[in-house]
Amino acid sequence: MSSLPPPVLKPEIRYTKLFINNEWVDSVSGKTFSTINPCTEEKICDIQEGDKADVDKAVVAARKAFELGSEWRRMDASQRGLLMFRLADLIERDRVYLASLETLDNGKPYYMSYNADLHLTISCYRYYAGWADKNHGKVVPMDGDFFAYTRHEPIGVCGQIIPWNFPLLMQAWKLAPALAAGNTVVMKTAEQTPLTALHIAALIKEAGFPAGVVNIISGYGPTAGAAISEHMDVDKVGFTGSTEVGHLIMQAAGKSNLKRVTLELGGKSPMIVLADSDLDFAVETCHFGLFFNMGQCCCAGSRIYVEESVYDEFVKRSTERAKKRTVGDPYDESIEQGPQIDPEQFARVTRMIEEGKQSGAKLMCGGKRWGTKGFYVEPTVFADVPDDSSIGTEEIFGPVQQIMKFKTIDDAIKKANTTKYGLAAAVITKDLDRALTIANSVRAGTVWVNSHNTFSAAMPFGGYGMSGQGRELGEYGLANYTEVKTVMIKISQKNS
Ligand code: NAI
Ligand code: MG
Repeated sequence: MSSLPPPVLKPEIRYTKLFINNEWVDSVSGKTFSTINPCTEEKICDIQEGDKADVDKAVVAARKAFELGSEWRRMDASQRGLLMFRLADLIERDRVYLASLETLDNGKPYYMSYNADLHLTISCYRYYAGWADKNHGKVVPMDGDFFAYTRHEPIGVCGQIIPWNFPLLMQAWKLAPALAAGNTVVMKTAEQTPLTALHIAALIKEAGFPAGVVNIISGYGPTAGAAISEHMDVDKVGFTGSTEVGHLIMQAAGKSNLKRVTLELGGKSPMIVLADSDLDFAVETCHFGLFFNMGQCCCAGSRIYVEESVYDEFVKRSTERAKKRTVGDPYDESIEQGPQIDPEQFARVTRMIEEGKQSGAKLMCGGKRWGTKGFYVEPTVFADVPDDSSIGTEEIFGPVQQIMKFKTIDDAIKKANTTKYGLAAAVITKDLDRALTIANSVRAGTVWVNSHNTFSAAMPFGGYGMSGQGRELGEYGLANYTEVKTVMIKISQKNS
């Protein structure tokens, strides 16, 4: 963790246009939309609103940048890596400004923007910069007289659609592997949080990426987003967001050109607390696992299963901890929790809290709106949550913790696996043997032991089941931006 320099309190808004072919342009329709400060519900500024016509323009630019013989296609892989290292350095130069702008547009605490989001964003670009000249094929000893090898080639024009919960980081998770592998990109950012991605676009240009390699479109899902997923000249779509829209993306790919699809979707991630664990540590880990980022994490630990003998004490201490959670101005370093992102998410979270109350679960604290301005929700804890209730089975995406009980390890594993999702899971215990048994048995893309929400650019992330398709990050993440080509060369001289 870095020490915390003070934020820029009213970060200047420098870019509001679409970024196509390294130029700032107005939308074809001339339409704009407002981005809102979720703390005050006031407009920050108007942004050019891209839709199908703008996506078409961006795809033409990205296709041209990808043509054989283009500057990007002829560029040495090491040079591609160098451009990405430069981009990371520029992000680091502008780190305070970017963290401040992220907090303005998203509402997340500034110290988190600076220490978590910016740190992980910069590391992600650097990690994949290193891969640019190391993602290569193999020479294969196939049968017969052949010299046979594989080439790892870029897929082509990649459409990328990202959400609002980690705007800079989701942009990095998508752009970095795509660029390392030599693709070109048309990215649609989330309509709630367009600002920081546009600053990154400016830095991409400053770093020296050729025109058309990265194009950034601000706009809405059913218009600009759908135009990407339905596009006949987009070779791949990478999406992070709701499972509901994940279905639409796959259908659009199926109905159009069978573009490659990777999806990172919702979750209802279990955390299993064993009785042998240090209870204060377990309470704090589970608190962070759920409440981090206002609960707006795809991997939020939103089903906590606690071993019977420590259940009552765990519930008591978790409630005390949630009551102490500080809510308010995200630029204030003492504040742990800002607002939810927008009125829709606020409404969804408060609706689910009501369903929780109806379900027979015990409301231990919170449950209401916090304050009178902004989309704030009180830190909320439910205990004795029925296994089949909506708060026990569906993604809430808010500061609402569900605590349940289990008797045996088998029982815990069974409960953990009773879900359509499979994004992440956690185990809290000092017993290595039981930790590994659970880690091996839970159907989830990531299992944390004595930890939660820990990320590394080097470690793959993604889901089983309806939590998604494919993996992002790490060496595995490259595969989703690479086509493998087989080359077999017949050798006629048979001397050996
Ligand atoms: P969403 O899935 O609608 O939005 C995510 C992105 O998809 C945004 O860029 C949006 O503009 C785009 N999109 C929406 N409709 C589209 C379409 N028809 N075609 C192409 N792109 C489209 O998610 P939303 O409405 O912001 O949140 C709803 C729920 O989704 C949340 O409550 C949460 O449960 C989940 N979610 C999960 C995220 C994750 O990190 N996996 C991130 C955001 C939301
Ligand atoms: Mg939506």
